[in-house]
Amino acid sequence: MNSHADIPTFSVVPGATVHEVLDGRQQEVVELVEKAYLLHGEGQTVNPPSYFLRFPDRPTARIIALPASVGGGRPVDGVKWISSFPANLDRGIPRASAVLILNDPVTGYPYACLESSIISAVRTAASAAVAARALVAGRPAPRRVGYLGTGLIARYVHSYLSALGWTPEEFGVHDLSAEYAGSFADHLRGTAGGAAVRVHGSAEDLIRASDVIVFATTAATPHVTDPSWFGHHPLVLHVSLRDLGTEVILDSVNVVDDVEHVLKANTSVHLAEQQTGGRDFLDGTLCDVLTGRVTAPADRTVVFSPFGLGVLDLTVGEHVHARARESGRLLVVEDFFHDLQRHRDPGKEVAAR
Ligand SMILES: NC(=O)c1ccc[n+]([C@@H]2O[C@H](COP(=O)([O-])OP(=O)(O)OC[C@H]3O[C@@H](n4cnc5c(N)ncnc54)[C@H](O)[C@@H]3O)[C@@H](O)[C@H]2O)c1
Repeated sequence: MNSHADIPTFSVVPGATVHEVLDGRQQEVVELVEKAYLLHGEGQTVNPPSYFLRFPDRPTARIIALPASVGGGRPVDGVKWISSFPANLDRGIPRASAVLILNDPVTGYPYACLESSIISAVRTAASAAVAARALVAGRPAPRRVGYLGTGLIARYVHSYLSALGWTPEEFGVHDLSAEYAGSFADHLRGTAGGAAVRVHGSAEDLIRASDVIVFATTAATPHVTDPSWFGHHPLVLHVSLRDLGTEVILDSVNVVDDVEHVLKANTSVHLAEQQTGGRDFLDGTLCDVLTGRVTAPADRTVVFSPFGLGVLDLTVGEHVHARARESGRLLVVEDFFHDLQRHRDPGKEVAAR
């Protein structure tokens, strides 16, 4: 413990602990994330724009800071600092890496540093599941679920959609890399509860064959531009944000997590805003859907575009920290904060030497 009673103890939570705390808890996290969306919609959060650090000599890489504050019964402030280096895949390591810092809302002191690539993937997948659960209401139960882009996020989204109790007959996958598509298909075969798994040779084939489509690519610009591929009016979880052309966006019902956030950084909806000069094509936020202010029609393509809110990382991170503390798994850094007197007492310093 710190000798100053008001200063929180600082601890580190490694990825293995984050994994242990969250593993198998999909339903609990889905409820947590849904509550965070409702708090956000009620104005009980602060979520300023993310800050993108980019590098002229490494144009595909970026590091993003997501500062945020969550109110309600479990208040917490903090920031996620997440890198995306797509060339890491060629190095045999994951694209994204991250830490999450939690700050005490009373003193402002940071009190934890958590490995956050897992928290980030979990909150992204849980957000897709919250949206899917709300947006399929009124539609026939999904029979064919397709994954376009088959990396880490696709794996987590599959795990979280599986917790919704859907019983699809078939899963489809497509990736620019046949190797990644094949290994994700193998993963699905092991976890799909007997459903068929089909690898599609093109995005068009996958889209036409799916009632629910999860976009989890690293495409920087739209590559799916023909609205006729969506003639069967699927639900689209557009997690990777930049795959769909403006024609597809304008032909769909569009639900977002936060309007001001998602209309940035050349997302597909941002491009649609630039091309149309307005935002009338946005139909509402996920909070609007959760509270019944907006209903997604079953006879239109519905696209959910989540920019990804720092408040979700903080909510999940605070939960992980609390559970790790309860089970004695925090790595406490004793006396992390030092030099806590505004004016040193020289007499004491001499005595201590
Ligand atoms: N909205 C959010 O809150 C949120 C949060 C986390 C990650 N993401 C996004 O999710 C995406 C996936 O992340 P990841 O960690 O799984 O990445 P990853 O690099 O592990 O996997 C991406 C996969 O997409 C494939 N791909 C790239 N372009 C493609 C295309 N045009 N068609 C088909 N496949 C293509 C790649 O071959 C790769 O297998 C990223 O764009 C990331 O920024 C969004």
